[in-house]
Amino acid sequence: MSTTSPQTWLITGCSSGFGEAFVRQLRTAGDNVVATGRNASIKLAHLQDTGAKILDLDVTASASEMNVKAKEAWELFPGGIDVVVNNAGYIESGAVEELTQEDMEHCLRTNFHGPMNITRAFLPYLRARGSGTLFYVGSQAGWHGDPSASSYCASKFALEGAVECLAKELAMFAPNLRIHIVEPGYFRTSAFSNIRHVPARVPAYAEFNAATRVFEQSVVGNELGDAEKAVVRMIELVKGTGMAAGKKVPLRVPLGSDGWARIKAKCEETLKICEEWEDVAKSTDLGM
Ligand SMILES: NC(=O)c1ccc[n+]([C@@H]2O[C@H](COP(=O)([O-])OP(=O)(O)OC[C@H]3O[C@@H](n4cnc5c(N)ncnc54)[C@H](OP(=O)(O)O)[C@@H]3O)[C@@H](O)[C@H]2O)c1
Repeated sequence: MSTTSPQTWLITGCSSGFGEAFVRQLRTAGDNVVATGRNASIKLAHLQDTGAKILDLDVTASASEMNVKAKEAWELFPGGIDVVVNNAGYIESGAVEELTQEDMEHCLRTNFHGPMNITRAFLPYLRARGSGTLFYVGSQAGWHGDPSASSYCASKFALEGAVECLAKELAMFAPNLRIHIVEPGYFRTSAFSNIRHVPARVPAYAEFNAATRVFEQSVVGNELGDAEKAVVRMIELVKGTGMAAGKKVPLRVPLGSDGWARIKAKCEETLKICEEWEDVAKSTDLGM
């Protein structure tokens, strides 16, 4: 189903990257936008001239604060919000042995609990109206692990799992709501220059950390993905236009040939394990 009439979008994490591109492209197309971010009066000042409504929203805010923000956002335009884009997120870097529980919780609070609290805050409105789209910016890191990326991968794996469950729940409780998660590879945004590094805690990891930082730095400016093109595709997935026209858009959509290749390889590797270890897997059923 395609939508060409203007919609109202709420987007998290609009200071840079995908979020900023969403705001600019949607405003150019004539859609209403609630652009949100932390310290919005400063960090989103550059978006004032787009005509987007600016709302201060730190996605790590408490659930009760999120409910207040959702009400405020819903009332900004007649008809409420049509599309909620859970985009805000960041990469945390550190080996598992050097990370603390607090480090991991910091990352999960932003990349996983934030989107979950936002979902819970908007769902009552969306269910009552019986229409709308919940959209999540996941990652190829929700399929595939890398050294030093356990916090980030854990947060994106968690998001994948919860969103899949949510999609199955909504198919029963609110079948007219749509839900999608995109899984980008490396795209040229501020993500790799904004990495949060955990403090060095275990001397044995010094060389590993140095090599990891060299790798992370080498990605900056060399990402294969064009963030503007990714946002064009994401908007098409929601509106059912362009490359999504006439297609039933699935829950998950990979973006970027690098991410696509990693996800495909992970699926093939998993299938191979299922085939090669079928006898072991099936040997544990009762009655065997
Ligand atoms: N670029 C990639 O290669 C890539 C690949 C896969 C997935 N992604 C995902 O894409 C999403 C957007 O990232 P990006 O690539 O566009 O990077 P980006 O340019 O660094 O943008 C990240 C945005 O998230 C915001 N943010 C971080 N913590 C927040 C919080 N607690 N509350 C509200 N906003 C917060 C940042 O705001 P501040 O300015 O306040 O920090 C910024 O606006 C993230 O979820 C990321 O994981 C990116």
